Order: sequence, then structure tokens, then C-alpha cells
Amino acid sequence: CGIVGYLGQKEAQPLLLNGLRRLEYRGYDSSGIAILEDGHLGVVKRKGRISELELALQKQSLPGKLGVSHTRWATHGIPSDANAHPHLDQSHRLAIVHNGVIENYQLLKQRLSDSGHRFESETDTEVLAHLIGEAYDRLSPDDPHRLEKAVRTALTEVIGTYGLAVIHADSPNLLVGARRGSPLILGIGDSEFFLSSDVTAVSGQAQRVVYLSDGDIVAIRPNGFDISSLTRPRAGFEISEVEKSEVETDLSGYPHYMLKEIFDQPEAIRNAMRGRLDLEEATAKLGGLNMNPQQLLRIQRIVIVGCGTARHAGIVGEYLIESLAHLPVEVDYASEFRYRNAPLDGETVVFAVSQSGETADTLAAVRESKRKGMRVLGICNQVGSTIARETEGGVYMHAGPEIGVAATKSFTSQVLVFLLLAVLLGRLRYLSARQGKKLLEAIEKLPEQVASVLARHEEVRAIAEKYAHADGMLFLGRQFQYGIALEGALKMKEITYIRAEGHPAAELKHGVIALIDERMPSVFLCPQDGVYDKNLSNIAEVKARRGPVIAIASEGDDRIGELADDVFFVPQCSELLAPILTVLPLQLLAYYTAVGLGRDVDKPRNLAKSVTVE
Ligand code: G6P
Repeated sequence: CGIVGYLGQKEAQPLLLNGLRRLEYRGYDSSGIAILEDGHLGVVKRKGRISELELALQKQSLPGKLGVSHTRWATHGIPSDANAHPHLDQSHRLAIVHNGVIENYQLLKQRLSDSGHRFESETDTEVLAHLIGEAYDRLSPDDPHRLEKAVRTALTEVIGTYGLAVIHADSPNLLVGARRGSPLILGIGDSEFFLSSDVTAVSGQAQRVVYLSDGDIVAIRPNGFDISSLTRPRAGFEISEVEKSEVETDLSGYPHYMLKEIFDQPEAIRNAMRGRLDLEEATAKLGGLNMNPQQLLRIQRIVIVGCGTARHAGIVGEYLIESLAHLPVEVDYASEFRYRNAPLDGETVVFAVSQSGETADTLAAVRESKRKGMRVLGICNQVGSTIARETEGGVYMHAGPEIGVAATKSFTSQVLVFLLLAVLLGRLRYLSARQGKKLLEAIEKLPEQVASVLARHEEVRAIAEKYAHADGMLFLGRQFQYGIALEGALKMKEITYIRAEGHPAAELKHGVIALIDERMPSVFLCPQDGVYDKNLSNIAEVKARRGPVIAIASEGDDRIGELADDVFFVPQCSELLAPILTVLPLQLLAYYTAVGLGRDVDKPRNLAKSVTVE
């Protein structure tokens, strides 16, 4: 899941461990490190947390100034010491760390086994190590580019995805990296270089970075680096400065990143709207879309793709765009969309929503849409990420780094971006200047309203304590709140492991109601909007079956208290903006429940922050 490689003048071990620590948030189940010194390759790998690896390294530290390291999130083979990376080739002189999936590894493994190769793990990565080793052994020992060439030769045989870093005991001054479908960056410091899957791993060490492109192979030596591609001897690249805001990842006194990021939200949404509200024209300015008004007017249909939380933001976006711009919108799981034969025509625009900009399924949906000739735009947080670079334009969220595995601030930023997009598309169609202006003025007030909701976090903590031992939880909402119901349930199950389901409130009577009893609380999203009365009927249906009800309602609502067991009030606002406020108590509810149950909030079991495998 996370790669860190180092070549420089300092001891590699502490730098690599420090980098791995910075990648911990992405989720992993084992870690390992390989360092080269005096022609000897030292390798230590451990199942479990990085602290296990550190413990092992205290007994047997690895000196040397060139090394690779990895945190693994199991795909092929259970989490174990043997399956952890780095993996070695047959000669045990080459070490590799790898993200991604080698799809034809079984075929390759068979071929290598037939010619005498023996494997120590069940991973696809070890096969790749042997494949590169085999190519290496066939090349002349006098060839100064032997390792790069071996990597290139091996990769031409590989079907699948990879971001990788390789070292060889014969080459004390060479670190080789390659990528296809899995991110890899080259960090450039003071007479030192890093390879990493994520820019946060090298922050504070590298001032400049190159975001490698798919197909790139990089060979790093003490005096510089060469970037070639699988097919060409030279590949173009750009060096960018690392922005401090991109990598600022301290806890600022909060006990968990998730809580910090929940409280970052007033600032995050302020950043998402900065410079984008045009009060004079009563519209939004989204220059990054790279589309002029004529082009925007020609859009006939919008398809939104994403995974997890990002897709939920897309669902809220669907209701916003349809209601403000009267454009047909379809939201799909990126993983489904990529394999569907979805009819697309020239007037359709595809939006890919992704905090990390690296999610493999979303990236594949982007590529499939491009292949069909569609215009694809991105809504990403991570600047320079693959989706941001492969789309024709888009909108950056500017939420700042999100470390907690459970997405929070990226969600509200995504919804805000959709709101701006809906205003922009609406103003080119049916939305009057008066309505547009009213909305923009309301949007401007959001950061303060968000802060005022968060200030009442203790109220949510009390509700969380009351229901922490529930058998399960239902989240119900309609229309603009439907996506919030889904997101509330996702947050709850991700970090508390309580079985939680989100549904449109009216679906209750079509099956879900069978789950209701006194140990199954329902969270109703019922601010005062167009479907308020309908929600009250659904609440009554739950109460009639002795189900506890927690309501998220609008301030000033004096009817809800009679029906619901617990109520959390959010400020009055337009129903279009309410999702940004109603999701906040649900984030806090999941957080406090998880803390109460003693869960590892920032690193929940089995999950990864950004899933770069299919
Ligand atoms: C993973 C994470 C989710 C996240 C999803 C999409 O599954 O665990 O929290 O919502 O990926 O991530 P993205 O970076 O594309 O928004």
C-alpha cells in the first residue's frame, strides 16, 4: 500500500521508517525494509504494525544509505512475515517493493518454477522480483544500465498494475522505480532522493517532486536521475515544488486525525469556495473546468462516478444539479461503471470524484470514458494526483491532507463543489439571478454554521454513549438527505464495526422495517425541507414498532421532540445546503461511538485510505 525508497548520504533506516509512519494512515497489515551496504542486502519484515518492525530493527539494525521499504495491504496471500515486502529474487541479491496487482502472476510463476525458481511467499510481488532477477542475470555484468534494462524487460511481460522500487546488491548507488496504474513520486532533496507512493511520506525531506506518469521508469543515482518509459529511452517530466499545505499532517493537539479533520471543516469549505463565488453575476466561477459558457451550455447529461464516500457526495450532487440546472444526472459506482456498456454520447460529461485521485476503480472509469471519447472532469483533493492529471479539467477541493481513513472534510468539500457546479450550470439555464444570488449568500454563511454545529459536539457524544451497544443502526433520509443517510451509515460501519445501513426513508416499509426492534436505533435526517412531513410519518412507523429514533432536525422545529427519543438541531437553511450541516452530527456520532468502543479510529481494520487495486 505504501512505498518509500531512499538514496542519499544519510542513514536510510530512520528516514525510511519515518516515511512509513507518515503513510500509516493509508491502512496496512504488515511492513518491511531492505537496506544495502557493502554489497550486502539486509532485510527485515514483520506482520502487524510498524512498531513491530521497529522492535525487530532495534535488535538488528540495518546500516546503509540506500534502501526500500513498504507497508502492505494484503491482496494475494494473508498478512504474514513471509508475504510482507520487500521480496527478493532467486539470487537474494535484488529487493523489490510493489503496490498494485500482477494479474498474470500465476502463469509467470509456473514458467519460473519450471526453470528452477523457488518461492518463499504466496505473493504476486515475489514473482515480479524473480522475473526481474531472471532478466538481470541474462544481461552482461559490464552493462552500466543492467538493472534498469532488467526492470524494463520484465515489465513488458507483466499484465497488471504497479508502482515499484528496486535495489540490487551489485549496484550500491542505484535506485530504480517504475509505475503503471499505481502512484509513484520522485522526491528531490539536498543531494538525496526518495521514491514514494505518496507525497506526504517525503514531506520535510524533499522540497521538489516529480509525479511520475504511467509507463515511466526512473533510475536514480547520487548525481541525478533519468526518466525513460517502457517504450522510449526518454520521457518528459515536470518538477514541482511541494506546497506546505499539501503535506501538513500534524494532529494540532487533537487525539485523532478524524476528529481534527471534522473540526477542519469550516476552513476546508471556506477554501473550497475561495475565489469561486461571483456575487455580481450571481454565479460560481470554476475556471479549472476548462470549459467556456457555450461548451457548458451544450452539456445534455452528467454522469458522476466514484467509490465510497466520494460516490455519496455524487448522490447529493445529483439532486443539486437536477434541481438547479434541470440536467439529467446519473451516479454510479466507478467499479460498476467501468465494466458496464453505459451508453454515452457526445453531449455527456463524466465527473470522477476522488479525494486521493488515485482510486484504481475510479481511474479505470476515467480511462474507459476517455476511450469512448467522453469529456472527463475530476473533483479531486490531492493536487497532481493521477485522476487530476488524466482528466481534461476539474475542480480541486483544497481541503488539505486527509489522513483519517474515514473521509470527513473531503465529503463536505465535495458536496460544496457540487453546489457550486449546480449554481454555475443552473445560471446558464433556468436559475434566475435573484435565486442564484440568494444561494451564494447562503453558501457564504456555511463555514460559520458548520462551526456552530461542531461547537455542540458534546451533545452528540452524549447520544453516542447512549446507543454505543446497539445491535445495529439504520440511517434514513430522503432527497437531498438520501446521500447523507448512506454516508452516515458508512461512517458508522467503517470505524465502529456496528452493522449500519443507509436507505431512502420511504424504503423502510419495503423490507428494512423488519429489522426494527428496541435494540435497533434509527437515525432520521429530517430537516425542514420539502419532505419533512413524509419523514414524520416514517418516524411514527418506527416508533410504533418500539424502535429508538435519533432525529437530525432544524432549529425551531417544535414537533420533532414529541416523536423522537433524541434530537440534534442544525441551523435553519435552504434544503440545498442542509446536507453540509446534517452530515456533521453523523460524523461525530460515528467518531464518539468508535472511541467509546475502544476502536482504532484513524486506522480501522481491513480498510485502506486509498485503494489502488481493483
Ligand atoms: C476507500 C476509502 C473510503 C473512500 C474510498 C474512495 O475505500 O476507505 O473512505 O471513500 O476509498 O476514495 P477516494 O480517494 O477515491 O475518494
